[in-house]
Amino acid sequence: MSFVDQVAVVTGGASGIGEATAKLLAARGARVVVADVTEEAGARVVAEINAGGGAATFHRVDVSDAASAQGLVDAALSTYGGLHLAANIAGVGQPPSRLHDMDVAVWDRIMDIDLKGVWLCMKAQLSHFLAHGGGSIVNMASGAGLKATPGQPAYAAAKAGVIALSQQAALEYARDGIRVNAVAPGLIASPAVAALPEEVRAQYAAGQPSGQLGRPVDVAHTVAWLLSDDAAFVSGMTHLVDGAWFQR
Ligand SMILES: NC(=O)c1ccc[n+]([C@@H]2O[C@H](COP(=O)([O-])OP(=O)(O)OC[C@H]3O[C@@H](n4cnc5c(N)ncnc54)[C@H](O)[C@@H]3O)[C@@H](O)[C@H]2O)c1
Repeated sequence: MSFVDQVAVVTGGASGIGEATAKLLAARGARVVVADVTEEAGARVVAEINAGGGAATFHRVDVSDAASAQGLVDAALSTYGGLHLAANIAGVGQPPSRLHDMDVAVWDRIMDIDLKGVWLCMKAQLSHFLAHGGGSIVNMASGAGLKATPGQPAYAAAKAGVIALSQQAALEYARDGIRVNAVAPGLIASPAVAALPEEVRAQYAAGQPSGQLGRPVDVAHTVAWLLSDDAAFVSGMTHLVDGAWFQR
């Protein structure tokens, strides 16, 4: 799987699954725009990619803002002269709460970033792909978007929305050389999870069918496959990466 001559944008590229995806795409030859609201961590990821012989640049984006999402596509075009691949991975979790207790502000924040953010990024990316012969998009959903998860009503609704939007776009743009897929991870040891006390992590791991948490790179490999020509006839799919969590 080679991404030589391809340009990719990766939102949420400063941390966790997005960081692993940006690094994997760059290692396989893509020129990568690492996009995130967090500049310092994004700059670190870019420095690590470039030090390893890859090609990456950082662009600050707030995916919940339409102009900012459009600005990310513009940055890819002005920096690398094209855009072929998009991994929309930026997202935030919600503080656990039951539906009736949840603050409106929590609902709005999760919807703005996790659902509207994916739509706004796709809106800008699809407009470019339509005018330039196609492209491939992977959106980050979650197992929580497929199966009820205690304390996560807004997050689950947003991620179910990401799955629906991905399916919708896959169908609507299938004749335009554009593929759109979603990835639904189970519990992945990204930095926030990795920073939890050892006993909490052990408890989380013990609750997994495999006894282990996933790694960001496990998800990145599936994102890369779905973005690549190896998945040329795969579109509208939601791919679980969850160590059989969904089968419980
Ligand atoms: N870690 C898991 O267990 C897990 C499971 C299922 C799904 N996911 C999803 O995977 C994605 C990445 O999660 P992660 O665990 O790597 O998290 P993370 O916190 O390590 O990375 C998320 C990144 O998104 C960025 N971000 C947040 N709001 C943003 C905004 N408005 N604009 C641009 N960037 C923004 C953050 O700065 C951060 O760098 C998220 O969409 C998350 O919902 C994670």
